[in-house]
Amino acid sequence: MPNSNANGQRKAMLLTGASRGIGHATVKRFSAAGWRVITCSRHPFPENCPWEMGPEDHIQLDLADPANTTEAIEEVKNRLEGGRLDALVNNAAISPKGEGGSRLGTLETSVADWQKVFQVNFFAPVMLARGLMNELKAAKGSVVNVTSIAGSRVHPFAGAAYATSKAALAALTREMAADFGPHEIRVNAISPGEIDTAILSPGTDKIVAQIPLRRLGTPEEVAKAIYFLCTDQSSYVHGAEIHINGGQHV
Ligand SMILES: NC(=O)c1ccc[n+]([C@@H]2O[C@H](COP(=O)([O-])OP(=O)(O)OC[C@H]3O[C@@H](n4cnc5c(N)ncnc54)[C@H](OP(=O)(O)O)[C@@H]3O)[C@@H](O)[C@H]2O)c1
Repeated sequence: MPNSNANGQRKAMLLTGASRGIGHATVKRFSAAGWRVITCSRHPFPENCPWEMGPEDHIQLDLADPANTTEAIEEVKNRLEGGRLDALVNNAAISPKGEGGSRLGTLETSVADWQKVFQVNFFAPVMLARGLMNELKAAKGSVVNVTSIAGSRVHPFAGAAYATSKAALAALTREMAADFGPHEIRVNAISPGEIDTAILSPGTDKIVAQIPLRRLGTPEEVAKAIYFLCTDQSSYVHGAEIHINGGQHV
């Protein structure tokens, strides 16, 4: 079965930030294909979760807290069957805004905020990937880091801390591809543009008018690309950053 590993077990993924937006669509995509999805976010497991998941598939975790992240890595290891992890998707991120949703530039961002953004958006992915390296290796798994178009150009709403954290995550993807590749773990990034989620700011419609496809992307369109990168369809794609932005980068 394509959704089973070599031992006939259900494939397993760890997905950060699964409660909303792109993460939520990713749970749906992988669950529909028969994967076990272990999610983590700051909220507890929702009682009314519509997917085939139980509380054992959710870890309540604050990625802004390094000690909590280290504990969660151990908890994930305990919950994995056969010590195998087929995919790690680093999707959770924060993007603090100024008053009225304004952009927090390099001059307005406090160092404390900058450090928190880097902890969630950059250091947590490093910690998770290194902490779960053996489990990924056992499954010949994939890591997908969710970057952003804001990592490669100044964006009218994305703040400086967010943008630089995403640029660092793109560079991390390259470094990890070099280091994890010899262990048969593929590492790639997806870089969304304007996706129809809660993270968007008022005024996005002006940006959409400049996008070649003239529309927002949907979380499902991003989830499909994540799925591609975690399956055999992309078996020789490694160290890539796939733009999912309707041509916004051209
Ligand atoms: N939407 C876009 O247009 C767009 C564009 C470019 C890139 N992206 C990237 O795509 C990814 C998903 O974006 P989205 O729009 O779907 O985001 P979102 O709706 O804001 O969801 C963010 C997710 O991250 C979790 N999260 C936030 N802080 C956390 C923390 N400290 N610890 C654990 N979990 C935390 C949230 O869950 P809890 O609140 O339960 O903790 C939530 O599930 C992000 O990496 C974002 O940068 C999005």
